[in-house]
Amino acid sequence: MIIAANLKTNLTRLKTIKYIDELESFLQQNNISQEVLVFPAMSSLNQHIGNVTVGAQNAYATKNGAFTGEIGEEQLEEFSIKTILIGHSERRHVIGETQEMLVKKFNFYKELGYKIVYCVGEPLEVREAGHDKMMEYISKQYEGIDTNYENLIIAYEPVWAIGTGLTPTLEDIVAIHKELKEKSHAPLLYGGSVKVTNAKNVLALDGVDGILVGSAALYVDHFCTMIEYAQKLNK
Ligand code: 13P
Repeated sequence: MIIAANLKTNLTRLKTIKYIDELESFLQQNNISQEVLVFPAMSSLNQHIGNVTVGAQNAYATKNGAFTGEIGEEQLEEFSIKTILIGHSERRHVIGETQEMLVKKFNFYKELGYKIVYCVGEPLEVREAGHDKMMEYISKQYEGIDTNYENLIIAYEPVWAIGTGLTPTLEDIVAIHKELKEKSHAPLLYGGSVKVTNAKNVLALDGVDGILVGSAALYVDHFCTMIEYAQKLNK
């Protein structure tokens, strides 16, 4: 399974190094065979050799150039980073990235062979508008995306479940993952208020190939517990 931590705008560079070191030791000491990804803040990116894969939360669709405030492939290459998160709801809804921008970014990093964790998910008002409207909205987030890309991982993260403590019911997660699996055979993660208390149940669901965890992953011991659950399930 794939267990991913999105650290967002949290932890300093030193704290991130400590976090990844502790995580790495845990994976090695416990012979963890799951795929573990960590997305630190930009300023905390570093080369890491080991079983933890470090990815970028964002980068611009460029090698380098005049894009103030952004980083490009050259800055990722310095740390041997070949994994990127694209389409996270905070980038779509807070930063204002459009589907067009995301497609451009997706294609740029796809051409370079990056592992791409591509996020989709609906805001509350869309969910409340009913199933068809919700699927229509999510389908638009697949537009322009090569769903057969071999290094693609999709993360379904309902916007209203991110950082709120709310989650869809387990039945709802199974149902929507079933529909999303029809759009792409890529591994499909669930994200949105996954914590130690619900991770085991979520990981065990049909159609769930892993989890993308935000706030609860900031505690390395919590994140390790979730990895342990995945290891025991051994799906
Ligand atoms: P929370 O786990 O804090 O809800 O965040 C989920 C998320 O956005 C992961 O990308």
